[in-house]
Amino acid sequence: MNKVVRLQKFLAGAGVASRRKAEEYIAQGRVKVDGKVVTAMGLQIVPDKQKVFFDNKEVRTEKKTVYILLNKPKGYVTTLSDPQGRPIVSSLLPGIKERVFPVGRLDLDTEGALLLTNDGELAQRILHPSNEVFKTYEARVKGVPSPASLRALEKGIMLEEKKTAPARARIKRKNKQNSVIIITIHEGRKRQVKKMLQAVGHPVQSLKRLAYGQLGLDNLEVGKFRFLHQNDIKKIFSKKSSLQTKK
Ligand code: URA
Repeated sequence: MNKVVRLQKFLAGAGVASRRKAEEYIAQGRVKVDGKVVTAMGLQIVPDKQKVFFDNKEVRTEKKTVYILLNKPKGYVTTLSDPQGRPIVSSLLPGIKERVFPVGRLDLDTEGALLLTNDGELAQRILHPSNEVFKTYEARVKGVPSPASLRALEKGIMLEEKKTAPARARIKRKNKQNSVIIITIHEGRKRQVKKMLQAVGHPVQSLKRLAYGQLGLDNLEVGKFRFLHQNDIKKIFSKKSSLQTKK
């Protein structure tokens, strides 16, 4: 019997994007099945019998999965193309032929750990809120947060009418004007760290993502990448936040 699969799942499994992103591509009319644009969600297809195209290029399932950790520099966008012509992260991956995509995003002016893969199912697992993947950031902020502010960040604060999930926050360094905060969150709301720190009165001056779970940058230089292996992938899902181990 021929296997039936939902179109967005097929696209994710073939490495086009995460399942959520694949749904956006379908809605945008970028996906064709047997020559016809499909915008309705939930279509079931038989991959062995039908041909699927994304941006007019046939999507094939036999592929090598690659996992990459990039130390993103500031000034690069984490989309795969940019209408404004700004530098894109994939330009930092010379020689990578697979169509990898970033797992989540980092702001233009944020640097640090960015995972890229062509494994849509893994991307989905990392991004799905129920899996609570820890992301640890180092934020240089204006002023020095009080113990009460740190507690507020940890307990959760209201951002756009929704409380943030419990987090960890501590001061790494401080002087009279500024401090460096290490903060670990497991949500992925847009500009979340900047908004959280702004909300407690300490605007972020620069931001760097240090780690996904226990997977850190180690000695990876800014602008450089390395391939990840299965033991690295396991570290992403570690429930110990970097904060708990690197005191
Ligand atoms: N939080 C932010 O504010 N910006 C990022 O780039 C990542 C997390």
